[in-house]
Amino acid sequence: MSVAPSAAWSRVAEEYARYILPDFVPAARALCAYLEIGPADRVVDVACGPGTAALVAAELGARQVVGVDFAPDMLRVAAGRAESAGVAARVRFLEGDATALPLDDMSADVAVSSFGVVFAPDPERAVAELARVLVPRGRLGMTAWPRERGVAQYYARIYRHLPKPPGHDSHRWGDPVQARAWLEPYFELLLAQTIEVPLDAPSAEEAWRRLRSSGRISAGYAALDAAARAAMDRDLHTFFAEHADASGRVRWPREALVLCARRRS
Ligand SMILES: C[S@@+](CC[C@H](N)C(=O)[O-])C[C@H]1O[C@@H](n2cnc3c(N)ncnc32)[C@H](O)[C@@H]1O
Repeated sequence: MSVAPSAAWSRVAEEYARYILPDFVPAARALCAYLEIGPADRVVDVACGPGTAALVAAELGARQVVGVDFAPDMLRVAAGRAESAGVAARVRFLEGDATALPLDDMSADVAVSSFGVVFAPDPERAVAELARVLVPRGRLGMTAWPRERGVAQYYARIYRHLPKPPGHDSHRWGDPVQARAWLEPYFELLLAQTIEVPLDAPSAEEAWRRLRSSGRISAGYAALDAAARAAMDRDLHTFFAEHADASGRVRWPREALVLCARRRS
């Protein structure tokens, strides 16, 4: 992909908020519930996108919420959503990378990252940053896509048509053994639990149209010529049709891994 990852995510911000975010809100709610976020907490949402978990934390009464993302248009959409939700006074959004957070040491009680920090190309550095901004005994919660469940089959289809991104593989965070190893220097892993994050769409075509709003896939798809795009569309429609009921409605039973950890003191 020739487009920088931050630009690729920025470009899809509006579509992402329309098509992908609604299915991710229940996962963000589950994550924030595990973390028992409440009015005493200062929360940072790392790789916040359109503020998916940040707004859930604010709804739960967190006294201060900061969302960080490297895609400026995601932050613009996030700020608009916070305004509409009436929580803008307690929520702010900052541009920054997960491996160099624009936050002071020990400035958060809780760090949350829903399908976000897993993309950072240097997991050890990203974990060190999460540890730096958390207070001792601070809580960390993340969601990741395991490699071996439905999502892996989906990506196998994707990579028939698009080059696999070089470098870090975000699915490695979906393996609790690997996740524990990355977290270990700073965190005690308390929970590694699978949850369902189903995709529910009126048709196979709509399911694929929605998932094309993901940053890296969108950029790769845009770079294909018309024939290659048509072939990819056919293949992905077939994939989602396998999860459709008699009326054509798709319910794809994706599973995600929730990781909760505590910062060592
Ligand atoms: C799948 S979206 C998840 C967004 C949001 N957390 C949610 O649950 O809907 C991934 C997000 O991670 C952001 N991202 C990816 N790598 C990042 C990095 N190294 N630093 C900061 N943000 C990053 C992208 O811009 C995008 O908004």
